[in-house]
Amino acid sequence: MAIDTATYAVPLARTITDMRAQVSAWRAVGETIALVPTMGALHEGHLSLIDVAKAHGATKAIVSIFVNPTQFGPGEDFEAYPRTEASDAEKLAGRAGLIFAPIGAEMYPDGYGTTVSVKGVTNTLEGEARPTHFDGVATIVSKLLLAALPDCAIFGEKDYQQLLTIRRMVSDLRIPVEILGGPILREPDGLALSSRNVYLTGTERKAAGQLNIILRETADAISAGGDIKALTNDAETKLLALGFDKIDYLTVRNTKTLQPVETLTEEARILVAAKIGQPRLLDNMSVEFRG
Ligand code: PAJ
Repeated sequence: MAIDTATYAVPLARTITDMRAQVSAWRAVGETIALVPTMGALHEGHLSLIDVAKAHGATKAIVSIFVNPTQFGPGEDFEAYPRTEASDAEKLAGRAGLIFAPIGAEMYPDGYGTTVSVKGVTNTLEGEARPTHFDGVATIVSKLLLAALPDCAIFGEKDYQQLLTIRRMVSDLRIPVEILGGPILREPDGLALSSRNVYLTGTERKAAGQLNIILRETADAISAGGDIKALTNDAETKLLALGFDKIDYLTVRNTKTLQPVETLTEEARILVAAKIGQPRLLDNMSVEFRG
């Protein structure tokens, strides 16, 4: 194969070999390379990660687009996950230097038998709700990082536990890539941008906009000295009253370990996963610790 420069406004590689050839060519002329891993269906939240990379000094961004089967559990939306390569490429015009969009067999060769499994930070929250999810994420992200060996790779705080998992993995495996976090991009009403928001009906979308507001109020009340247990319970009750179907968790955790925080004596983050209609919405924010 070769890099495809004809189909879209941004060059596209479908094989690791082709991507590496581009990385080598860039390295030879002194470019600083960032990798932004995605599953496509790109929105401004994804695109903002490219800006984070550039602000950090990257001169070339590779955006990978791969709907990674191993991070979806049985009954999850792997088949239905939006695949919109052409419009993704349009959004990347002028922003990314290369799209890496491999086919499944490139990332999972016949008979593959290696999984990367991160312990500790994955044992809770999303790891409980989706027991095989982080093995899938760690495996694909390690493959992408090793394939590209960029200077830096950027992940959104939207998936906060994923960001911590990748930081742990990169540190444990000594992968020589700097990991950067990007802030959550939100709709005007504060709903965190997500490829899965398209599944929300009109009324669900309205209620979904309350999620970040309730989270903010709860975080502020906790910072002001309020009782964590009582306030998080109240927040859950409010969400259920608004039409959320199920709250998987709404909890205050240590910023680094994700262990439960009962009183605010350490750096903490409030995290929520709640189902409304078809999608399961994630959000999180830091809880200001006034020491
Ligand atoms: P995906 O859900 O496509 O997200 C790609 C990246 O965009 C992730 O780092 C995610 O945290 C970030 N992101 C999503 N919504 C965002 C928002 N509203 N603001 C800022 N960043 C946002 O996360 C994955 O894909 C996959 O697990 C992946 C890391 C690509 C491995 O398959």
